[in-house]
Amino acid sequence: MIIRPRRLRQNKKIRDLVAETTLTKDDLIMPIFVDENIKDKKEIPSMPNQYRFSVDLAVEEVKEIADLGIPGVILFGIPKEKDEYGTSAYKKNNVIEKTIRKIKDELGDEILVIADCCLCEYTIHGHCGIVKNGKIVNDETLKILQKIALNYAEAGADVIAPSDMMDRRVRAIREILEKEGFTDTIIMSYSAKYASSFYGPFRVAAESAPKFGDRRSYQMDIRNKREAIKEIELDIEEGADLVLIKPALPCLDIINEAKKRFYVPIGGYSVSGEYSMIEAAAKLNYINRDEAIREVLYSIKRAGADFIITYWAKEVVKRELI
Ligand code: PBG
Repeated sequence: MIIRPRRLRQNKKIRDLVAETTLTKDDLIMPIFVDENIKDKKEIPSMPNQYRFSVDLAVEEVKEIADLGIPGVILFGIPKEKDEYGTSAYKKNNVIEKTIRKIKDELGDEILVIADCCLCEYTIHGHCGIVKNGKIVNDETLKILQKIALNYAEAGADVIAPSDMMDRRVRAIREILEKEGFTDTIIMSYSAKYASSFYGPFRVAAESAPKFGDRRSYQMDIRNKREAIKEIELDIEEGADLVLIKPALPCLDIINEAKKRFYVPIGGYSVSGEYSMIEAAAKLNYINRDEAIREVLYSIKRAGADFIITYWAKEVVKRELI
């Protein structure tokens, strides 16, 4: 018997029939940057076609995203003031709190509002935790993370997404949410977050680059895989409902392994550097942009991701690219 696998590739209909991986708008989450310092919107220099929005324009943008049928947005804030302790992340009327309230007022449950919960955009030193004697201290940071999480939950966030990589933060956030009666608030933990060069464009967008040192004492070493599994296991034990792995493309092996091992939904975050790398190559005509985007998103799904955070979410749905 001659085996000819090409029989199943000869035309689009048969290819569609036997396709193993599906990707729809229901799998996507769109990141949104909300900047308290501006009145309109500003393109992000390191991320072509991505913008920072004022609170009002962010809400308009989220409406468009909801109208497209995309199930969720994740919000990042750029505050007016920064300090040592990131107090503007949890003070009354914080930029993200305002945005969540407005989205919920106008859209209710039409879209899931996910609030990134971290300090780096709010601290003058740009680190994701409190700094003492040049070190990022864990347990004091937890108290601040609890305040931020509670502030966003009170504003109506559906999901709190801690992205700081402090130890025991999921437990700390779960405890405060339970204590204050927010038993339905979902925690999506950035469980396996590597110290990656691919966050570069985001740090320009969110003005969150560390002013000294780097994030290697809290984000994971790219050489490790079992450590990622341990982090995910701990976060699930501590009360995470959803698990995120990032950056997605360099971590397809981690996504794949996590999907096999754990029974919680796994998300891949296709981060800013993955976005800007393809945008830049496409601009130089080195690659076909639309095909590259499609390939990247399907490969994250094929690796085992149940959902994907991507800066292309709005465009791929609008232009029916997937
Ligand atoms: C905040 C945070 C970062 C990203 C998501 N949340 C930046 C960082 O850790 O430096 C990166 C997202 C991206 O690059 O698209 N801690």
